[in-house]
Order: sequence, then C-alpha cells, then structure tokens
Amino acid sequence: MIAQGYLTISCPVATSAMSGITDASFVKRFEDAGLVTIGGYSIDEPTIEASRRMSERGRREFLIDEPFEHIEQELEQLSGRTVAVNVRASSLTPLMELAPIIAEHRGVLEIDAHCRQPEMMEVGAGQALLHQPHRLVEWVRRLKETGVVLSLKMRTNITNEVALARALEGAGLDMLHLDCMGAQRRGEYAPTDHRPLRAVRNATSLLIIGNNGVRDYESAKKMFSKGADMVSVARPLVENPEVVGALSRTLKKMEAAYGWYNMPSHICAGGDLRGLAFCCAPVKNCPLQSVLKQIGLSPAEFMRLKESLVAGTPLEQGEGTCFGSLAYCCKPTRACPYRDAALARAGISLKQYAQYKRKLAQDIVHVLKRRSARQRVSKHR
Ligand SMILES: Cc1cc2nc3c(=O)[nH]c(=O)nc-3n(C[C@H](O)[C@H](O)[C@H](O)COP(=O)(O)O)c2cc1C
Repeated sequence: MIAQGYLTISCPVATSAMSGITDASFVKRFEDAGLVTIGGYSIDEPTIEASRRMSERGRREFLIDEPFEHIEQELEQLSGRTVAVNVRASSLTPLMELAPIIAEHRGVLEIDAHCRQPEMMEVGAGQALLHQPHRLVEWVRRLKETGVVLSLKMRTNITNEVALARALEGAGLDMLHLDCMGAQRRGEYAPTDHRPLRAVRNATSLLIIGNNGVRDYESAKKMFSKGADMVSVARPLVENPEVVGALSRTLKKMEAAYGWYNMPSHICAGGDLRGLAFCCAPVKNCPLQSVLKQIGLSPAEFMRLKESLVAGTPLEQGEGTCFGSLAYCCKPTRACPYRDAALARAGISLKQYAQYKRKLAQDIVHVLKRRSARQRVSKHR
C-alpha cells in the first residue's frame, strides 16, 4: 500500500496516458491497476488548437471543447478508483482551475511535460516546459496551494533530471512519472535507460513511477530495483492488456515472500543507494568503492555507519558469514548457505531478514540525504 497525500494506492502498477485512447471507459477494465491515468487532455485554447492541428495530420487526440466538464464526468465514471488526469496547458491559469476539481475527486493532477509534438511545444506546453524549469517550479508551488496531489510526467535524457527533480520536490511536487527513454540519435531506436531513474531516486524522496518498456515482471523489476516506487504501462494496454493483471499478481507474491516488492539491486549490479544495505565490507576493488567516493564516505565511515545502524538488531549477529555480521550479507533473493545458517541461529526467517534490511536501507539513505543536504547548504553559504 502506497500513501501519498489523500491517496492510498493498493498496487504499484499504473496505466500511463495515451491521448485519444485512455479515457474512463478504456481504463476501467484495468481493475488490478493501483492507479489509472486518463488523458492527455488539452485544457486551454492554445493546447486545444494544437491538438486539433495534430489530429489533422493523423495523431490520435482527445478533441474536447469543454475539458473541465468532460474531466469531471470522467472522474465520476471512475469513482472508487485512484485516477491521475494527464493534462497539457500553456499557462498556469487553467491548471489552477482544474486542480480543485481533481482534488475533490481525490485524484492526481499530472502535468504533461512529455508531449514533444511540435504543435504542442510551440505553444509552450508538453516537453517545452522542461526547458523552463523556473516556470515549472512556480506552477508546482502554486498548484500545491490547492491541496491537489501533483505529478509531473517527463522523458529522461532531455534535461538535467536530478536538478529539476530536486527543484520540483522543493516546490512541493508529490510524484515524478519518468519515461526512462534513452538518449536518442536521429532515427535510432533508444532503449530504456534506467540510470536517470536511479539518479533521481538517490537525490530525492519523490514518489517515482518508472515508465518505458515495462512489459513483464523482469522489465518491471529493473525499474523497481533502481528505485521506482511504481511502474506504469502504456502501449501494452492495447497490445497485451493482460500485462497489468500478471504484474499485479507477481508483485503480490513478492510482497508476501519478502515484504519488499521494490527491493534494490546490489550496488555492484547497478542498484540505487538503498542497495548499500546489501554490500559486503569494502575490502576489495569493486563498484562500492566508487559509489562511496561519489557520496563522500570513506570505507571506514561506511562500516561505522552500517554497524551503528544494525546495533541491537538481529543483523548485528552473523557468525560464520563472510564478514561476521548479517549487516554485510546479500539480498534474500540470492542463495547463500552461510547467511541462511546465521539466520537460523538468530531465529529469524528470510522475510524478517528482508524487513531488517529494508529498515537498514531506509536508515542509510536517510543519513546520506541529511548529510548531502547539509553539504549543499554549506556550499551555497
Ligand atoms: C499513442 C500514444 C499516445 C500518448 N499520449 C500521451 C499523453 O497524452 N501524455 C503523456 O504524458 N504521455 C503520452 N504517451 C506516452 C506514454 O504514456 C508512455 O510514456 C510511453 O508510451 C512509454 O511507455 P510504454 O513503453 O509503456 O508504452 C503516449 C504514448 C502513445 C503510444
């Protein structure tokens, strides 16, 4: 269960917006999704006109003259569901008008900073917003005054995602819906790039929805293990609609087995900073060393941090394991007879072990974020 403002999201799988397709009657069928997205809707004259021009050259678009009434009716049709409304706007005014309507329905207002169609960008909407970070920050700050739960949808590899995410988090943004599209060279297919997702995870506490190429549990796991709180799917809703139910069932099994559906990868396998909970003691030349350098922690400080955080918990024990403490043991999904023997001696199950590691990961991240916030403040003095 994920809680965000007035929302409770029962399953970390969302449907993502596809304009011209994802309206209330379409998304209704995805009963297993914890969050369904409708839209994208164009909500002011310039964006409605842009949609019209886009549809004239063959793009599927929702062409709606009275978007506010329409969105309200759609929300009523989806009553009982958690709904995000993806919208394009060329100025703050229509968003300010829409936000209370969405808040009243306990929905999510999702700003579309994703659409890269020239007509939309020409009127300053969609992806054009990413190049005006100060404007976006101001929009977020004002919109949050209405009490609405606010999401921003954007592609990666367009701007400095970390700087933008930090600024938007500071302005009050709740959720970042990241289409992890790889950097694209002209005409080339760009594979999913999880690195920006990991970087944003490491830099902020935003609720992150990882999107792009999620087709099955393996592709969803890549998002979760780099720090996504949720994943979303768009094109498979048409091509393979069963994917939502299948993902939801597998995630429920993971949650039942470990109580941690979005367990990070090991640091040496590219995990986000939560993965430090699974690292060995830093005694060899491995990716941990460079991550410690990046975050400005010496190997000795890292060991002191981990050992202080597990003091008095079952993770402190670990006779017979590689480093004599479960603090340095690996993921519960990886087989290790030494760790399992130590767990048996400590009298805790693999699921309890996962829970202690989850707490350790949260505590490590908390300490590191506090440290880096202090460092940023003193740098700017
Ligand atoms: C036909 C179509 C229309 C889309 N319309 C929107 C939109 O209106 N707003 C938006 O934020 N993203 C839109 N997207 C992007 C998707 O939500 C999603 O980010 C992208 O397709 C990658 O996810 P996927 O690999 O699961 O399809 C659209 C995608 C498609 C294919």
